[in-house]
Amino acid sequence: TQIPATLIPGDGIGPEVVEATVQILDALGSPFSWEVQQAGMAGVNSCGDPLPAATLASIRKNKLALKGPLTTPIGEGFRSSNVRLREEFQLYANVRPALTIVPGRYENIDLVLVRENIGGFYVAHEYYIPVGDDPRAVAVSTGVNTRDACKRIARFAFEYAVKNGRKKITVVHKANILKALTGIFLEAAREVAREYENQVQMNDMIVDACAMQLVLNPWQFDMLLCTNLFGDILSDQLAGLVGGLGMAPGANVGDDTAIFEAVHGSAPDIAGKGIANPISLMLASGLMLEHVGRHDLAQRLRTAITETLNKDHIRTGDLKGTASTRQFADSIVRRLETI
Ligand code: NAI
Ligand code: MG
Repeated sequence: TQIPATLIPGDGIGPEVVEATVQILDALGSPFSWEVQQAGMAGVNSCGDPLPAATLASIRKNKLALKGPLTTPIGEGFRSSNVRLREEFQLYANVRPALTIVPGRYENIDLVLVRENIGGFYVAHEYYIPVGDDPRAVAVSTGVNTRDACKRIARFAFEYAVKNGRKKITVVHKANILKALTGIFLEAAREVAREYENQVQMNDMIVDACAMQLVLNPWQFDMLLCTNLFGDILSDQLAGLVGGLGMAPGANVGDDTAIFEAVHGSAPDIAGKGIANPISLMLASGLMLEHVGRHDLAQRLRTAITETLNKDHIRTGDLKGTASTRQFADSIVRRLETI
């Protein structure tokens, strides 16, 4: 049976890694039937809107999407389309696993970061206060975390731990300085943790100490539960532990809708060259297969990626290889025939 899903090629390297991912999903015999829709600069160029109504309608109908990265211009007048999508569909949980496939600086990393995906500083209540003749003499940014939203993401993380056999959750905060904004997050997590006392351990760590510990001894962690901004930052750090942004998938999950994507952005520095590493989005599509219950296909996909990297030694430039995005995808397809 076919599962309709929205496919958003996105910007920069987006179309390149999306094409490679769809190629191997087809080779796998994935159940998805794609509705291609535009967003980001591609949306602006095709219909003058970074989040066209047709794209939103398609996601609303399918409740499932795979999306390439979207460029967010820095400066005024633009709100991130990613942030808008997360708000629009109440995708309150961002799940970002980091798993060593190619041993590099670190080996045997197996971590999952859960990031609160809607609140915190990303509500972007921002403004300037003019002083004298400087209209931007003072910049103000306000973060918002509600107790309900904090408990919701904590419950999501603990449920995820139980379902996936994870044993420990480290709550990351800055409750010593951002006492209200991140204190409420820690408080809510402690409250929820009590319900899971016999199944999942909880500890907490201040974000700066956590950043250092992730470099010194990442193996002490199992799951990280983070506020929005800290989760954004630390998930790139986790990607660094497993070979970089080319290796990091993410899932944006709400109660009824889920959008799967890579952790990385549109990588304008290498866009159009055909050299991007498509693994992040491929692994994200693996999370999407699991989301619809096709653990078998997700497992085959991961095996094919692992064997292409470690048996065929075919890798893109970011992993010190010479393969193009296409060559890498082609060899995964060949590997799939043997699995
Ligand atoms: P970026 O993640 O696009 O790139 C950072 C560095 O990592 C670059 O040197 C890039 O070449 C490299 N890189 C990233 N993905 C790679 C891959 N798959 N293979 C090989 N190398 C890779 O971050 P940056 O430059 O800060 O952001 C560029 C744009 O992307 C911005 O407009 C930003 O707003 C947007 N962005 C979008 C995201 C999304 O749609 N979910 C997430 C993060 C950023
Ligand atoms: Mg980020």
